[in-house]
Amino acid sequence: MLELLQPVAPDAILGLIAEHRNDPRENKIDLGVGVYRSAAGDTPVLDVVKQAEQRLVDTQTSKAYIGSAGDASFNAAMQSLMFDDAVADERLAMLQTPGGSGSLRVAAGLILRARSDATVWVSDPTWANHVPLLGGAGLQLKRYAYYDTERYVIRFDAMLDALRAVPKGDIVLLHACCHNPSGLDPTEEQWRQITEVVTERQLVPFIDMAYQGFATDLDTDAFAVRHMARRVPEMFVSGSCSKNFGLYRDRVGVLLMLAADKAARDIAQLQANNVVRAMYSMPPDHGAAVVSVILHDEKLSSQWRGELAVMRDRLRDMRVLLHHALRERAPDRDFSHLVRATGMFCFLGITAEQVVRLKQDFGVYMVDSSRMNVAGITADNVEYLAEAIAAVL
Ligand code: LMR
Repeated sequence: MLELLQPVAPDAILGLIAEHRNDPRENKIDLGVGVYRSAAGDTPVLDVVKQAEQRLVDTQTSKAYIGSAGDASFNAAMQSLMFDDAVADERLAMLQTPGGSGSLRVAAGLILRARSDATVWVSDPTWANHVPLLGGAGLQLKRYAYYDTERYVIRFDAMLDALRAVPKGDIVLLHACCHNPSGLDPTEEQWRQITEVVTERQLVPFIDMAYQGFATDLDTDAFAVRHMARRVPEMFVSGSCSKNFGLYRDRVGVLLMLAADKAARDIAQLQANNVVRAMYSMPPDHGAAVVSVILHDEKLSSQWRGELAVMRDRLRDMRVLLHHALRERAPDRDFSHLVRATGMFCFLGITAEQVVRLKQDFGVYMVDSSRMNVAGITADNVEYLAEAIAAVL
């Protein structure tokens, strides 16, 4: 039977991990997959995570099943982190999920059960895996205008116009902060306007918050979620602890669903648990248990906020560094969009052919669209990187 399968191309983002690993050049640079890297170029386990893991080793008494919705104390901690006090608990259904991807996939299953004909509108462009993940689940997807590839800004008027034309009841997928891939987010005033259109058109917001704490700070980055939660009857929010806790491979995510009232919440929770049971039964425990230990302990929580700030500041510093280096090496080109973006990503703004030349001639790896993960930049490699970029322009 397996011989009937046809080959498929490696994933556009994950494929770069192996390509970069197999490249023997010493000066190669990985600006591909979205993982944080320190100034030394590695992705260390956060110190606060190590402490919480030790505490778990010392105190955990059982590895028995918890259930499809996962650990209630983790879910509650994530609710406070993401929603603050924006909504009444009785309207929120919550699930711990295997990463943000697991959260998106469970939400897709639930949307399909509720409205099999619903369309999910995604930004153009969006995270490369949104389309296979949600489309592969069986949802219909369409795009709304988002990014201006010539001026490197959000096409905000076109975005609002597109949202005004979305049929009532459809779902709009939004990035809470650190838009992946562009790194450009709406301002708070723009989020207010988006919310007005969403409520006027009776659309269902579905907010993907994979980078909370990587743009400005934990609270500011949650503005869209909290603002909308106070105004819409229903919404989905997918959260991830991959980046802000550095727990990538432990697969820690959450799905928070705001329902119109308690009765609808109870049914949504039952249905979501049922979707999970039929898909992967229940989420992995370890990473979520670590997050729960941290968020329920004031000292660890404040240490975590500090470690998160260090990551965030480094990303910003690396953008500035590359921007300066490019001003020297490629003075005719304006790269100021690099420093207007936040989080891990932004588009460099070169062609797919130039991306290939960067890889082949210089060992510099980024996604075909020229999305760069700025965490791969260091004070040691930035001059070489700027030189390489200038050479392919
Ligand atoms: C990325 O966009 O690089 C990250 O979110 C990792 C992934 O799974 O694609």
